Amino acid sequence: MKRVLSGIQPSGQLTLGNYIGALQNFVKLQHTHECYFMVVDLHAITVPQDPAALREQTESVAALFIAAGIDPAKANIFIQSHVSAHSELGWLLTTLSYMGELERMTQFKDKSAGKDSIGTGLFVYPTLMAADILVYNADLVPVGDDQKQHLELTRDLAQRFNARYGEYFTIPDPYIPEVGARIMSLDDASKKMSKSNPNPGSFIALLDPPDVIRKKISRATTDSGKEVRFNPVEKPEVSNLMSIYALCADMTLQQVEQKFEGQMYGAFKKDLAEQVVAKLEPLQTRYHEIRQSGEIHAILKQGAERVAEVADKTVRDVKERMGFVLPR
Ligand code: TYM
Repeated sequence: MKRVLSGIQPSGQLTLGNYIGALQNFVKLQHTHECYFMVVDLHAITVPQDPAALREQTESVAALFIAAGIDPAKANIFIQSHVSAHSELGWLLTTLSYMGELERMTQFKDKSAGKDSIGTGLFVYPTLMAADILVYNADLVPVGDDQKQHLELTRDLAQRFNARYGEYFTIPDPYIPEVGARIMSLDDASKKMSKSNPNPGSFIALLDPPDVIRKKISRATTDSGKEVRFNPVEKPEVSNLMSIYALCADMTLQQVEQKFEGQMYGAFKKDLAEQVVAKLEPLQTRYHEIRQSGEIHAILKQGAERVAEVADKTVRDVKERMGFVLPR
């Protein structure tokens, strides 16, 4: 069975973008692949985090994994910092990376733009992400479009290691959905929907109550004109809402276009809000049940124990190849 690995940062409320771009595919892939899904708390601290909020968000993201439909009996669910091999391989891979290639990462450029002091963690973020993937020799990495460049760097680092120390790492492929790889902000279709946007009206959080979802969608900006037609260049805002509709209602973009032929934006947005509410309501109910039961801790402990065996072996093999003396 091929291996799938992915992670989500506990750096704020998960959004519909995270769900459509990543989480929904995690759920699909668990039936056909050996899966590793983690909450990447070590990545979250590359920008300042309030300790209490980080703790709460980490548990919340793990519970959302299960609420979204990931079955802990099928897939390994764990917290990145529970498996120390990630940090260790992260360092080993950092020593193989070049300043130039890390400076070219668009996420680094975006997050550091205009700042006087830029955290070193933010800079080496992608080498830790490479370690997350390579430590399990993952074949496939389901992510949204914004992570594509980090995946390319991961492939480069794996190839560099293999060239220097002999074939070892699997070269992973990204798994990026055709529709929904980049869900845009509700207030500005030139920016991706993001949990770190200070304007909560710009994103739909997976835990937003139904009335909040309805309000946010009714206020979402729409292009001039009236037609509900998919054209991301001429109608980026309506096209973004149409992608959300298609993914929540399990329809093609063409079917959405046909359904709303001759109708105005208002009617479309009203129906869209109901589709999103219907999609998220069962997830929210399950989420609250899971949080109340407290079962998440045992699931995470078991997940980390299982995956650590694989990850520790990789670190041992890598160190041996690089010339470290291993304890005997
Ligand atoms: P993060 O936490 O920013 O986002 C988690 C996942 O959600 C996707 N995503 C989106 N997809 C579509 N539209 C959007 N608006 C949108 N916003 C976010 C992201 O592409 C991502 O797949 N670096 C990663 C976390 C990470 C990771 C890994 C991923 C750490 N180690 C190893 C895969 C493998 C990140 O910041 O994701």
